[in-house]
Amino acid sequence: MEMSHIAANAKPSATLALNAQAKRMVREGQDVVPLALGEPDFDTPEHICQAAHRAIEAGYTRYTPAAGMPELREAIAAKLRDENELDYAPEQVIVCNGAKQALYMLMLCLVEEGDDVLLPAPYWVSYAAQARFCGARPVAVDTTGNDLRLTADLLQDAVTAASRLLVLNSPSNPTGVVLTGDELRGILDVAARHDLWVISDEVYEKLIYDEAVHVSPAGFGDEALERVITVNAVSKTYAMTGWRIGYAAGPQQVIKAATSIQSNTTSAPNTIAQKATITALTGTQEPVAEMRDAFDKRRRLVVDGLNEIPGVRCVMPEGAFYVFPDCSDLMGRSINGRAIENSLQLCEALLEEALIALTPGSAFGAEGYVRLSYAASTEEIEKALERFVEFVDRLEG
Ligand SMILES: Cc1ncc(COP(=O)(O)O)c(C=O)c1O
Repeated sequence: MEMSHIAANAKPSATLALNAQAKRMVREGQDVVPLALGEPDFDTPEHICQAAHRAIEAGYTRYTPAAGMPELREAIAAKLRDENELDYAPEQVIVCNGAKQALYMLMLCLVEEGDDVLLPAPYWVSYAAQARFCGARPVAVDTTGNDLRLTADLLQDAVTAASRLLVLNSPSNPTGVVLTGDELRGILDVAARHDLWVISDEVYEKLIYDEAVHVSPAGFGDEALERVITVNAVSKTYAMTGWRIGYAAGPQQVIKAATSIQSNTTSAPNTIAQKATITALTGTQEPVAEMRDAFDKRRRLVVDGLNEIPGVRCVMPEGAFYVFPDCSDLMGRSINGRAIENSLQLCEALLEEALIALTPGSAFGAEGYVRLSYAASTEEIEKALERFVEFVDRLEG
């Protein structure tokens, strides 16, 4: 029996595959330093957990409307107005099972067979997979020649008649790049000129450092509000990855279509988690600041350490909790008789020979790089850096 074309071509995400191997090694008793996954290593703040307990006790155990609880949609609209200067009515907001589901439903609403989805590369792996599930073609817009920053010119050069959707992700996973307001305005001008939909994935908006400022491109005026769909989640900001709450806000007809899809596929997300999300958004933001400060210290530690390793070059990221060092000078060398020709082979060798779990740049459309997540303790980061130095010392050729 044959499966569908989409199922037959579906691959598990490369990040998860390597992480599964790392987990297997940990289960076998090996001391692997896990720096591959995109998940804060903090626990969900206590007051948010307490809100979930209270929700159960108060009987919030039934379905909510398909687009989410009205009071949560109101809280999200208020957050977008107060923090992002975006003027959305609660009816223009849909609550989903994480940002990931929001993104997928938006793609289902916006693209189809024959359409191209423009992805500034390096890009988060699932954008490309989701575009393919919709029958569309992911098209990488290479930014590696411009310090990993998308420019209006790079976008302009990549646009064709088939281009339909641009996915922006600032702060970026995997690069940590935060685009400036000016950069985003130039990019939005190109999108407007070619009538592209724009999804702005802002899940790392609160994790920004130094002088970086987060800008939501939907706020550039009425035209932008009709073109850009803003996606966010509580997953990274509040260390709530397992609660599965994300959301999208955009033009009424897009949110209405996404709600129809959601009502027939997953229904609204977990009611208790929706209640807890109201507390996350409206309660104290102190834990967010504490987590941000911790990430900031680790960021400096990891970038300084990586730049001392011969053959590794790392720019200081301004956001998220990843660094994306250029390791192309390590390619063509070998260790223990195994050749390192690409970023996947480098990550396999780092895992098996040095017990460090990283993610290959090829998974993000950028060969020669690796992604290191510093959502790990200082001790783990220091251990990984020492092992990386020893690993490079052992390289031959
Ligand atoms: C850029 C980006 N967008 C979306 C997501 C998914 O977020 P969620 O866990 O809310 O589905 C991730 C998670 O790694 C991410 O890195």
